[in-house]
Amino acid sequence: MKPVKFLIGILLLWGCTANNPLPAPEHPFQQRYGIRYQGYVGEKAMVVSAHALASHVGRDVLLQGGNAVDAAVAVHFALAVVLPAAGNIGGGGFAVYRDASGAVYSLDFRETAPGLAHRDMYLDEQGEIIPRASLDGHLAAGVPGMVDGMVRLHDSLGSMPWSALLQPAIDMAEIGFPVTAMQADRLNDLQDRLLAVNTHDDIPFLRLHWHAGDTLVQSQLASTLRRIQEQKRDGFYAGITADLLVKEMENGGGLISQQDLMDYRSTWREPISFRYKNFTLHSMGLPSSGGILLRQLLYFLEQFPVTEWGWNSARTVHLLTEAERLAYADRAKWLGDADFVEVPVAQLTSSTYLQDRLTWLDTSQATPSISIQAGNPMHPESEETTHFSIVDAFGNAIAITTTLNGSYGSGVVVQGAGFLLNNEMDDFTSKPGMPNLYGLIGSEANAIAPGKRMLSSMAPTIVEQDHKLFMVLGTPGGSTIPTSVLQAFLNVTAHGLTMQEAVNAGRVHHQWLPDILYYEDTALDSAAILWLQQHGHTLQQRNNIGAVDAILVLPDGRLEGAADFRMDDAAAGY
Ligand code: DON
Repeated sequence: MKPVKFLIGILLLWGCTANNPLPAPEHPFQQRYGIRYQGYVGEKAMVVSAHALASHVGRDVLLQGGNAVDAAVAVHFALAVVLPAAGNIGGGGFAVYRDASGAVYSLDFRETAPGLAHRDMYLDEQGEIIPRASLDGHLAAGVPGMVDGMVRLHDSLGSMPWSALLQPAIDMAEIGFPVTAMQADRLNDLQDRLLAVNTHDDIPFLRLHWHAGDTLVQSQLASTLRRIQEQKRDGFYAGITADLLVKEMENGGGLISQQDLMDYRSTWREPISFRYKNFTLHSMGLPSSGGILLRQLLYFLEQFPVTEWGWNSARTVHLLTEAERLAYADRAKWLGDADFVEVPVAQLTSSTYLQDRLTWLDTSQATPSISIQAGNPMHPESEETTHFSIVDAFGNAIAITTTLNGSYGSGVVVQGAGFLLNNEMDDFTSKPGMPNLYGLIGSEANAIAPGKRMLSSMAPTIVEQDHKLFMVLGTPGGSTIPTSVLQAFLNVTAHGLTMQEAVNAGRVHHQWLPDILYYEDTALDSAAILWLQQHGHTLQQRNNIGAVDAILVLPDGRLEGAADFRMDDAAAGY
């Protein structure tokens, strides 16, 4: 397809579905007033991502007969162009895939620490953390995994030619695309940081002032994508792109070497699969904590009549909080890259262990986090990421969460190659007990080591009900990812919301430390806030918690695509 024709096509399609025929909900419980608010319903196939252009790229692939993996590859590269804050080729992520026969796979294309990285690299001579050293600039970047991940996914499970799947991204990088109002704001906020961390100004994001509708052209990125289109893995990890990346590291004092790039490999992992009532959830295992946290949380919640207690009633939120306190305490102590440290995953997810942990759960009063420690599973006796969900007409489903970590990652743009590098190194524990960007603390298990993967919270998740595909979901949001996925899932299964209502409904979050119960303004009414305060919780209102993009298989087999109303997300299906 000619690039211009393609772009006009997707812009027209965007116009159609951006004007969703249903009104935006004023309240998550529209059904109280007799109105159900559904997302975008498709007969056969659905893509939900953080940008309408990317969703439509995926929909086009599906319409051409591509499968969910083909669409995922095309969407991921499209997001690298139209969502520079989080979509990426300079970052990494995780995929959970379920084929139509019910077989489930998960792929880890998480970044790794460079070969020259070491445990104390973000500490000064006094052993104190050097502020923002793991967040800004060249030293913050891990070895990117996205391109290897997409090649592996496509080689194993794709059906359309690789080259065709990259073309839409290349066209959008070359011709440019209109930035949204939210993107214009974020790009304006980014300017000083770009100038501070880069050693050059060959950067497409630099502009005196961005306005909604301005065109963002990324010619160097288009050339890089063309090299990946022609040479697949070698278009990124070898040749011109690798040379440019390593030169960028040399200019800016970063660590990633040719050897690191050559050595990088994405890896198939066992997903974390478990039952909750008559559902089976499949989510991401280590080096992400997402699946383990979800397993623990749902085990705790299953022991209580959450449906009867009601959506975000004081009792329900209290229970969620206490459950989260326990699960995140284990995360901090035990979890890290299991290729490097021994992690007792089987014990941490076993019913015997979790049943024992339940004795700590006080249903009447907040337990101060300092009095909660991680359990002892060794002795069984006792703010930018992006997620997209896709279901194809053959019944295959894929959930991918991918990231540069913070918004625009490290802020470093590889000169001549036009892409941003991640700041994923901050997900390691720079110093035991000291919080990272998301306030998470960790232990030795998540200490930095060459080639090691930093612990993640990403939780791309696929749910079955009675062995049939039921829901595909995930979200950005750092430490709030598992709790946001949990709430979207429970909102449908325990509280009877539509998928779109479930995604839009206000969320709460607690992560053991800091000992604060965060809530969005639409999450709690004043009576619940009062009750929670009176029962020992410290509450703090905050902006958006997560941006869930989900697909629900409706009882008649149609698909409800729910794009989070908090951001620019959009569903596109047919
Ligand atoms: O892997 C992680 O858990 C984090 N790097 C994710 C970052 C994230 O979700 C930022 N989004 N708001």
